[in-house]
Amino acid sequence: MTYKVRDIKLAPKGKRMIEWAEHHMPVLMTIRREFSRTKPLKGLTVGAALHTEMKTAVLAKTLAAAGARVAITGCNPLSTRDEVAAALAREGINVYAWRGETTREYYANLNRVLDYEPDILVDDGADLISLVHIKRRGLVNRIRGASEETTTGINRLRTMASRGELKFPVMAVNDSPTKRLFDNRFGTAESTLQAIMGITNTLIAGKNVVVVGYGFVGRGITSRAKGLGAIVTVVEIDPINALEAAMDGFRVARMAEAARIGDIFITTTGNLKVIRKEHMRLMKDGAILCNAGHFNVEIDIPALVKLAVKRREVLEDVNEFQLRDGRRLYLLAEGRLVNLAGMRSLGHPMEIMDMSFALQALSTAYLAKHGRGLEPRVHDVPTEIDRKVAELKLRSLGIKLEKPTVEQCKYLRSWQIGT
Ligand SMILES: NC(=O)c1ccc[n+]([C@@H]2O[C@H](COP(=O)([O-])OP(=O)(O)OC[C@H]3O[C@@H](n4cnc5c(N)ncnc54)[C@H](O)[C@@H]3O)[C@@H](O)[C@H]2O)c1
Repeated sequence: MTYKVRDIKLAPKGKRMIEWAEHHMPVLMTIRREFSRTKPLKGLTVGAALHTEMKTAVLAKTLAAAGARVAITGCNPLSTRDEVAAALAREGINVYAWRGETTREYYANLNRVLDYEPDILVDDGADLISLVHIKRRGLVNRIRGASEETTTGINRLRTMASRGELKFPVMAVNDSPTKRLFDNRFGTAESTLQAIMGITNTLIAGKNVVVVGYGFVGRGITSRAKGLGAIVTVVEIDPINALEAAMDGFRVARMAEAARIGDIFITTTGNLKVIRKEHMRLMKDGAILCNAGHFNVEIDIPALVKLAVKRREVLEDVNEFQLRDGRRLYLLAEGRLVNLAGMRSLGHPMEIMDMSFALQALSTAYLAKHGRGLEPRVHDVPTEIDRKVAELKLRSLGIKLEKPTVEQCKYLRSWQIGT
């Protein structure tokens, strides 16, 4: 069997979802048409660990159109859309993913992808890449390179590289301007707030929203929460980012202070236990806790479980934890990234993933051609790729760039200004 999905009969629905995404991802579809002609991945196997939902399916089909054999699994046990996984299996993609995988199943599926002996990896969070380095070292020499989708993955890979433990080159797709400025900021912002509203049906206007972390993800969520009428407080450990938050007009406070006022808490740090027992003890009855960072470690869930005297699921993806004094705290989507892990979470808007996955597709083709010649470290995506994605996106939006005059070009290149 070349796939393992929840229910293959869901494929027709998944196919319609993929078609809907294709219709809204013009940049990736332009690249698919180009790749169908040039076949830059001919004869190669691509192993991917990505949120297996409709936008990712458009990428997987694009890699297949480029000539690759594709094996894919999820990068989070809750973010797979079973309909999409089934449709991909019907399309001939080797897919091993279903929503609600246990940790054991999750790792078994990563291993199944590696059983295809991929030449190139496409990862989100670096679990696939780290598994190769820990348990499947026999594959290291075969792999030309990998590309990594998110901040947490890049942080892990930079640590590996600094210790001399990274054995093949990795393209930092996350760090490209056409990814980080749009996906981390606008994509996560819209999808996180959509998910919180969709899961809880709560009003954001007038609520005290506490955003922990004011990086790319945090900046987006705060601005969109403010736009919906929330009173936003930011918690930061970095002096520059904290100052930026303050000058953007947000209250900046320590977690111990913010804990008392928040109605909704959203963690966006990529760090662990940023909301701990001592903070939960201070929270108001009814406070909602959720996470938009990559792993489910930002809210100390074991501490919450210990603090609670009663626990029940009140709505799908909403767990109530009742404390000894009767206060109730609500955890969304098991503390996993709320914009993808909830049943009603749609993930980033399609138009955003159009750019992120265009970068992934072009980076994969780049690795096919140049991977063998690159050092085993984390590499920036070449500027030409970034510019190509931005230009294709602008074209799809019907936006035209101003052209500098010859005189302006000369002026910008000169240094003896005014003499
Ligand atoms: N949910 C999604 O779809 C999605 C999308 C993109 C990125 N991510 C993930 O979101 C996380 C953040 O990504 P980013 O690009 O914003 O990273 P970033 O590095 O730009 O921002 C993280 C911020 O958190 C701050 N921080 C760290 N520890 C903290 C603490 N204890 N308390 C308060 N602030 C703290 C840092 O100083 C930094 O400003 C990562 O895990 C990333 O992988 C998720």
